[in-house]
Amino acid sequence: MANTVVVGTQWGDEGKAKVIDYLTNHADVVVRFQGGANAGHTVVVNGIKFIFHMVPSGIMTPSKACVVGNGVVFDAEQFLLEVDELRATGVSVENRLFVSDLAHLVLPYHKLEDAAAESTKGQGKIGTTGRGIGPAYADKAARTGIRAGELADWDLFSKKFNSAFERKQKLISAFYDTAFELSADAVLEQYRALREKLLPFITDTGSYLFDAVRRKKRILFEGAQGTFLDIDHGTYPFVTSSNTVAGAACTGSGIGPGLIDHVIGIVKAYTTRVGNGPFPTELTDAIGERLRTVGGEFGATTGRPRRCGWFDSVMVRKAVQLNGLTRFALTKIDVLNSLDEIKICTRYELSGKKIEQFPTSLKLLEKMRPVYETMPGWKTDLSGCTKLSDFPSEAITYIERLRKHCYNVPILIVSTGPDRNQTITVEPLDS
Ligand code: GDP
Ligand code: IMO
Ligand code: MG
Repeated sequence: MANTVVVGTQWGDEGKAKVIDYLTNHADVVVRFQGGANAGHTVVVNGIKFIFHMVPSGIMTPSKACVVGNGVVFDAEQFLLEVDELRATGVSVENRLFVSDLAHLVLPYHKLEDAAAESTKGQGKIGTTGRGIGPAYADKAARTGIRAGELADWDLFSKKFNSAFERKQKLISAFYDTAFELSADAVLEQYRALREKLLPFITDTGSYLFDAVRRKKRILFEGAQGTFLDIDHGTYPFVTSSNTVAGAACTGSGIGPGLIDHVIGIVKAYTTRVGNGPFPTELTDAIGERLRTVGGEFGATTGRPRRCGWFDSVMVRKAVQLNGLTRFALTKIDVLNSLDEIKICTRYELSGKKIEQFPTSLKLLEKMRPVYETMPGWKTDLSGCTKLSDFPSEAITYIERLRKHCYNVPILIVSTGPDRNQTITVEPLDS
């Protein structure tokens, strides 16, 4: 596979990590380019489950390189936890895991600020993952952030840290009703110890990636979150604090758009959302509960139950536009196995008017009534299917209808279970 960006087309948790892990065999380098430890990326290899928050999901394939790009907000503590877990499982990360020196650090005061900001929002609470993502990106944009590469010069790092800490302490104590229970000295001491372990990973990853491209290595860009959590194009303010769309793969890795060949959108066969915000096709009935139970729809980062609903083609059509999708990877179709009938939202309706486009206004989105096409379920276990032609005709029809409502984007992969081997490739991957 040539250089390929993989992004979520909905509200996250589409199964990006499963597909990334599968595709890593056809790539040389996997790079995370945005988000931080808010991501919960699940990979299942031979029945053993790994959840990554910071380390790219390609790490389970030995000999492939993994990069945490400059667009990520880097949680050093979480990263080292995952590195330790990988080492304990016998997965070597030596000389194949790299972190951008330009990635901004998520520091303990960012997590405190995240919790403090949420606690004051009442009804408007976003329902963040509490991983300090918003405050870390805010500091980056305000030019008061500290980057991973700055750990190399301890004196300078300490100075910057102390000044940032003092500012945060004043801001948080003055504005929020939150005790600022952090000691600058204790955090610095903690980071002095972490630093020794971190420095070997930190490098100029933009140059590393460009060199790899020049040597004809294939890069896989691993998106986090989903299109509708994008800070610009998502359901603002119920979004995350980074651009999650495919364009961010370039700014977040240091590789220009001319070097990207494909953009794969991960499409879950139904829709889920964690946290607050509008969700037109949400099911608050027994079917929603069934999707949650059968699909194991509980947040990989926070354990919160995910809200579940029917597939929304209005959203995915918008995702095709925003990401320039060239292929779909359809996941979790098996979760629908036992349903009598299945619905696809084809458009919305508002006061008797047909709405085909995802509205940019949150107020309008909240009022949208989904219009459904209903089709019979297949009531068959798909897990034994190794090719699409093994699928019952009702499942093929579902896939074809879904595609038809989403500009007929070709499907590259259909995933029928969480394990790496529960994957059907519809087209040869080396094309
Ligand atoms: P990500 O954030 O997009 O990487 O997705 P998550 O890992 O948060 O959530 C996807 C969940 O669905 C994980 O528990 C995966 O193991 C699981 N999963 C992925 N693909 C499939 C599939 O095709 N079928 C089923 N049943 N589970 C899947
Ligand atoms: P992956 O990569 C699903 C949601 C949170 C909240 C909003 C803002 O696993 O798909 P944040 O902590 O980012 O400030 O929270 O975004 N959110 C996710 N939902 N999957 C994710 O990541 C998410 N990362 C953040 O629930 O609604
Ligand atoms: Mg997830």
